[in-house]
Amino acid sequence: MSRFYLTTPIYYVNDVPHIGHAYTTLAADVLARHHRMKGDEVFFLTGTDEHGQKVEKAANAAGETPLELADRVVKRFQALWEKLDISYTDFIRTTQERHKKGVAHIFKSLIDKGDIYLGEYEDWYCTPCETFWTETQLIDFKCPDCNRPVEKLKEESYFFRMSKYQEQLLAHIEANPDFIQPKSKRNEILSFVKEGLRDLSVSRTTFTWGIPVPGNEKHVIYVWFDALTNYITALGYPETGGNFEKFWPVDVHLIGKDILRFHSVYWPTFLMAAGLPLPNKVFAHGWWTVEGQKMSKSLQNVVEPNMLIDKYGVDAVRYFLLREVPFGLDGDFSHSALVHRINSDLANDLGNLLNRSTAMINKYFEGIVQPTGPLQEIDESLKSRTEAMVVQVESHLGDLAFSKALQAIWEVISAGNKYIDESAPWTLAKDPAQKERLATVMYCILESQRICHHLLAPFMPETAKKALGYLGWDAEPAASGLQWGGLKEGTSVVKAEALFPRIEEKGSE
Ligand code: MSP
Repeated sequence: MSRFYLTTPIYYVNDVPHIGHAYTTLAADVLARHHRMKGDEVFFLTGTDEHGQKVEKAANAAGETPLELADRVVKRFQALWEKLDISYTDFIRTTQERHKKGVAHIFKSLIDKGDIYLGEYEDWYCTPCETFWTETQLIDFKCPDCNRPVEKLKEESYFFRMSKYQEQLLAHIEANPDFIQPKSKRNEILSFVKEGLRDLSVSRTTFTWGIPVPGNEKHVIYVWFDALTNYITALGYPETGGNFEKFWPVDVHLIGKDILRFHSVYWPTFLMAAGLPLPNKVFAHGWWTVEGQKMSKSLQNVVEPNMLIDKYGVDAVRYFLLREVPFGLDGDFSHSALVHRINSDLANDLGNLLNRSTAMINKYFEGIVQPTGPLQEIDESLKSRTEAMVVQVESHLGDLAFSKALQAIWEVISAGNKYIDESAPWTLAKDPAQKERLATVMYCILESQRICHHLLAPFMPETAKKALGYLGWDAEPAASGLQWGGLKEGTSVVKAEALFPRIEEKGSE
């Protein structure tokens, strides 16, 4: 049995969850479920980032303490993950003792080693991004990442000797082509590192909401140093036995493209300094816009996942987000695109195939799977396409190509619909001499779908469970169910209800 450790970013609690957050978490969930199905021991971590000036400011504005704010917002995240069927193993909050202890430990060990030292900082700071910029990096005197105003800060600060690890990091990125994905992002990071790494300011004295620097409580630890460390404190670091030994290094950190530099430059160099192994992979996905525009509170176009789930159902939302846009590219959310996917892919293709085929076996054989005869060319073709799909989906998910995996499944669903049209069971049913042939056709079409729904289980857990139930498969979906021949003679198949009712399409709403 292999082990698989994967993480989402930990979300800031100064904002309530939107589809951008749901997207990363959902992708991680599909991967976690896929690995569990293969029998792997999975550790799937998510959580919240609760320290820093941004959270402190939001709390002040709301007339709360930062912890009151965090306690309130964390519930919103946890409730959404439940509603979205997210099967995380652990939820870390950076205000938890286990985390604070681990961060203080690693910080102190780097001070002791001389890789963190006390100095003085003067530069431009972007509070929303919690990032310092040099004057030359600014664009029109604004933050080059978010285009918001920056302020000049001068403070005594601890520095991390990031410059010392530049060559080692470069060598690592070059020797491990899969370390940073997708490729275009890897190239961006390579050029960034080649330009040279400056030492990094890793403490602040201008506010107090954070983890104090061990031995100098005037300073709080920089929020990104604090946050990134969650990936090991959740495993029990600095205890090196137990989960840490079992699961570190992480198989994949799933993140959005905006926080790639933190994960592929800062984090690996912190780990190098601490003498710990580096992540196997950091994958940066793209950003969602909404009806062509950047999602923002001021534009009042933030897409609220709870509302979407209430309106369209959890599996339709899960399917749409991972099918519509290749993971790694930017995408646009629109209600009309979502409704279109529901009607064409889910109601027409997937749902209709299940309806037609389960209705037929009930009509012709009272729902009981019959002994089959020899397979004809058309049957062999459906069988081999189904078997090829299993291999393709495994390989696409290995590449985090969720959309391609779904596409591969849909090719077989379409082939199934075509198979029914071409083998015309209604004609076979008229001729008693064709009874065995009819039984074989019924078998092939149901068996192909049984395997499709196994592969769909990580994407649409509720729907797959329902569909497999209609197909007489009561066991949990597992890798052993991916073999052609799993549907046994004598199994009772139930006539399916519509999996996805059609929604009236009226363009964008
Ligand atoms: N707290 C940091 C992460 C620390 S990880 C050690 C943070 N939090 S965040 O809440 O602002 O963002 C979390 C994730 O949401 C990021 O991966 C970001 O890319 C993602 N998204 C935020 N808006 C998004 C879209 N509009 N579209 C897709 N993902 C987006 O950053």
